[in-house]
Amino acid sequence: MKNRPKLELHLHLEGAASPAFIKGLAAEKKLDISGIFDERGNYAYADFAGFLDVYEAATQALKTHEDYARLTTAVLQDCAEHGVVYAETFLSPDFCGGRDVGAWREYLAAIQEAAAAMEPHITLRGCVTAIRHFGPEKSRETAICAAETVGDFITGFGIAGAETVGAPRDFAWAFDCAREAGLGLTAHAGEWGGAAMVRDTLDQLPGISRIGHGVQAITDLALCDRLIENDITLEVCPGSNVALGVVPNWASHPIEKLRARGVKVTVSTDDPPFFHTTMTNEYGRLAHHFGWDDEIFREVEQNALEAAFCSAETRAIIAKRLQ
Ligand code: HPA
Ligand code: ZN
Repeated sequence: MKNRPKLELHLHLEGAASPAFIKGLAAEKKLDISGIFDERGNYAYADFAGFLDVYEAATQALKTHEDYARLTTAVLQDCAEHGVVYAETFLSPDFCGGRDVGAWREYLAAIQEAAAAMEPHITLRGCVTAIRHFGPEKSRETAICAAETVGDFITGFGIAGAETVGAPRDFAWAFDCAREAGLGLTAHAGEWGGAAMVRDTLDQLPGISRIGHGVQAITDLALCDRLIENDITLEVCPGSNVALGVVPNWASHPIEKLRARGVKVTVSTDDPPFFHTTMTNEYGRLAHHFGWDDEIFREVEQNALEAAFCSAETRAIIAKRLQ
C-alpha cells in the first residue's frame, strides 16, 4: 500500500505541520503555545471547534518565508514517503502573509520554490483557501490574493473552516472573483452542515467542480444523483471524519455507499498529524473495512486525476506515474 502511487487533493498545508515541527518553531521564537499539546506531545482538542482553535494557534509559530519553505519540504517528504506523486494543498493568506498581497507573494514564492525542489518526485499545486469563520469580507481579500497569484502553482480556490457560519451565498463574491481568474473551485461542505449544505453550495456557488468532504450527501439520494449528473467530485477524508466524530467509526463511513451509487469519490488525509493518519493508513483502512482492491483504488485515483486543478500537461505526466 505504501509504495502505490497516490494522488491527494485535500491536504491543508498548515494542518500538515507535525506537533514536533510546530514546537520547534515556537521554541525558536520563544512563543508559548504549549497549551495546544497534550502530555504525549500530540495536538490536544476535544471537538471540531477545539480543533479549529488549536489549528489557528499552531499557525502562530509559522512566521517567516523560511518557516513555510521548511514546512513545505517536510510535508512533501511525508507525502512522498506514502507514495503520493501529486498533491494539492490548501493554503491560506489569512495565516501566512497577513492577507497583504505583497507579503503573500513572498510567502508563496518560498512555498513554490520548496515544492519545485521536490519535482519530479512529487508535484504540488496550491489551492488558496478562505476561512469561513473569518467572514465574507475577509474572503474577498483572500480571493483577490488568489486572483493576483493565479499561475502554474496556484490553480484553485476554496473555503474551509466552521461550516455552519453563514450561507454559501455570503461567499459568492469571492468565488466569482476566483472563477473569473480561471481558478478551479472547491468548497468544504457536508462535513458538519448536512446534505442541505452541499445542495446550497451547488446552488449558490456556481462553477464548483469539487466538494471538500461532502459525505453528508449520503442522506439525500437525489442529491447524490445531482452530484453524479453534474460531475462533482468529493474530496473524502475518512480518517479525518472518524477522528473529529463526523461518523462514529470507520465501518460506518459512507465513502463506499457513495462510490457504489456512482458518486465520484477521492481519498485524502485533510490534516494528517491532527488525525494520526497517512495516505497509507487511509488506503489500508479502506481495504480492510470495505474490501477495496486494486480496481477500486485505480478508480478513485482516476477520479482524482480527472478532478485535479492542474494543466493537461501535468495531468498527462501524473497519469504516466500511475501506470
Ligand atoms: N474542515 C474545516 N476546516 C478545516 C478542516 C476541515 O476538515 N481542516 C482544516 N480546516
Ligand atoms: Zn479540510
